[in-house]
Amino acid sequence: MDSMHKISNKDKKNLLIEALSYIQKFKDKIIVIKYGGAAMVEEELKIHFAQDIVLLQSLGLRPVVVHGGGPEVSRAMKQLGQEVSFIDGLRVTSAENMRVAEMVLSGMLNKEIIAHLNTFSGKAVGVSGKDGHLIEAYKKIHTSGVDLGYVGGIQKTNPELLHVLLDKGFLPVISPIGLGVDGTTYNLNADTVASCIAVALNAHKIIFMTDVDGIMVDETLQPELTVGELRKLLEEGVIQGGMIPKAEAVLNSVSFGVPTAHIINGTDPHSVISELFTDKGIGTQVVS
Ligand SMILES: Nc1ncnc2c1ncn2[C@@H]1O[C@H](COP(=O)(O)OP(=O)(O)OP(=O)(O)O)[C@@H](O)[C@H]1O
Ligand SMILES: [Mg+2]
Repeated sequence: MDSMHKISNKDKKNLLIEALSYIQKFKDKIIVIKYGGAAMVEEELKIHFAQDIVLLQSLGLRPVVVHGGGPEVSRAMKQLGQEVSFIDGLRVTSAENMRVAEMVLSGMLNKEIIAHLNTFSGKAVGVSGKDGHLIEAYKKIHTSGVDLGYVGGIQKTNPELLHVLLDKGFLPVISPIGLGVDGTTYNLNADTVASCIAVALNAHKIIFMTDVDGIMVDETLQPELTVGELRKLLEEGVIQGGMIPKAEAVLNSVSFGVPTAHIINGTDPHSVISELFTDKGIGTQVVS
């Protein structure tokens, strides 16, 4: 708020005019927002996030939220004495790990986000990939041959349930759990889920909120990358850990028709609004 007081009335007017043109442009558009577990840190930030998403809805955009929850899942596993390990940003998931992951993601975190959104008069509804056959998953095999356990890949996305909700003005909030055709529960990477949902819904935009400013090369933020440039960074190993599935999700989204994908720092207050409603934007934008 302090910074608002420092800008002149003329600047405020220009900012508002700038925002209005985007509001018109985005009206009725589906925007998929991946809310990274890494960005869900402080209570205050979670409240800012909820306010922003409800604002988008009240401005006539149709937001769809997909959330992660890596740090909370790891914390719960450790509290229960379970082992935590990752390979290329994917969580190796035993049967016991899977039960905890589902409990934390679909139970605790999903409902916490719903509570925040609905406190601000949102019409949020929490679902997991299991609901309404939203996400059909299969056992993912890692290229190294290491058994990842209950880590799933996405076979098929059935967005019918989301259309039903969106058409009635509800705001879907999706936890990254999928169901195999044989009834097995799978732990999915939330970036992958967000990307498949964005493609299935013909989204106008996908935004990944994480805990870094965007894609970094030698500690320098990359404001804009093409699909080709991003693919090269992945091949060169510049992108590591949790940024690998995120970069792949960005590539998938843009390659299959989502016009733009953004990676932004969700630990900055109101980052979604800054990205959507200003000319300059923030973070890394990836275009085809
Ligand atoms: N080149 C890179 N540029 C930026 N971040 C990178 C890069 N390589 C690796 N990373 C790491 O990727 C991390 C983000 O992925 P991570 O999976 O940890 O978070 P998230 O996806 O937002 O949360 P969650 O997995 O819980 O949904 C960053 O914190 C950073 O450490
Ligand atoms: Mg991640």
